[in-house]
Amino acid sequence: MRQPFEKGRVLVRIEIARDYEALSERAARLIADEIEARERIVLGLATGSTPLGVYRRWIEWVRAEQLSFAGVSTFNLDEYVGLAPDHPQSYWSFMQEKLFRQIDIRPSNVHIPQGNAEDVQAHCAEYERQIRAAGGIDIQILGIGGNGHIGFNEPGAEFGGSTHLVALAESTRRANARFFKKEEDVPTHAVTMGLKSIMNARQILLLASGRGKSEAVARAVYGDVTPDHPASILQLHPNCVFLLDEEAALGVTEGERTR
Ligand code: GLP
Repeated sequence: MRQPFEKGRVLVRIEIARDYEALSERAARLIADEIEARERIVLGLATGSTPLGVYRRWIEWVRAEQLSFAGVSTFNLDEYVGLAPDHPQSYWSFMQEKLFRQIDIRPSNVHIPQGNAEDVQAHCAEYERQIRAAGGIDIQILGIGGNGHIGFNEPGAEFGGSTHLVALAESTRRANARFFKKEEDVPTHAVTMGLKSIMNARQILLLASGRGKSEAVARAVYGDVTPDHPASILQLHPNCVFLLDEEAALGVTEGERTR
């Protein structure tokens, strides 16, 4: 593996698509090609609104019998604590509705952290064990929070963290309140894959759309690598692509950012 501080090393690759639809098409195609090329593949999936365009395309292609998830296993990044899986706002429900129920994936190949585990610590350790047992994550999809969070790794998150319990930043709770009836309903805690779990993926595809993400993206690409901006850790990953639409890319230039 290349050394993180080697001169000339590619820190991240930046691809810019015209708009959200073009970005979704590109990401969906890229991963579908990998699914088709391999007998088995492990995907790391994200919630939030950004990956929805990708999921919609996969559903269409499965319906048209152009794509099959029969050989795919998935691990989701995170889940709210205190919500049972069948709670309408849980990430479990979100993923069932937006993707899993509409594709031919085997339910036993779907993994999502549980928000109501009796022993959260034990559950987190078990989740990590399941990722390892599946052979690790081949391609991890990420969104990015306005404060640079990935998964639910908020500013200050440990770079060495595995799946763990976190308190959500107020800004994150506010941003996610749109999915709940009122802000007080947004859970205060979550279980998330840690930055180390994310960095262990063989390939990372970070998707960002809209002007609201442009600063967080620019800081992740050009800023210091610091826990204050968790997405900046991606500069240390050997195979990470930022796939952006023009608005999210306002602060960056297309191509490779090298050291
Ligand atoms: C949530 C999720 C993240 C996601 C982020 C951005 O907090 N836990 O995984 O990347 O929001 O969401 P959106 O794509 O809706 O902007």
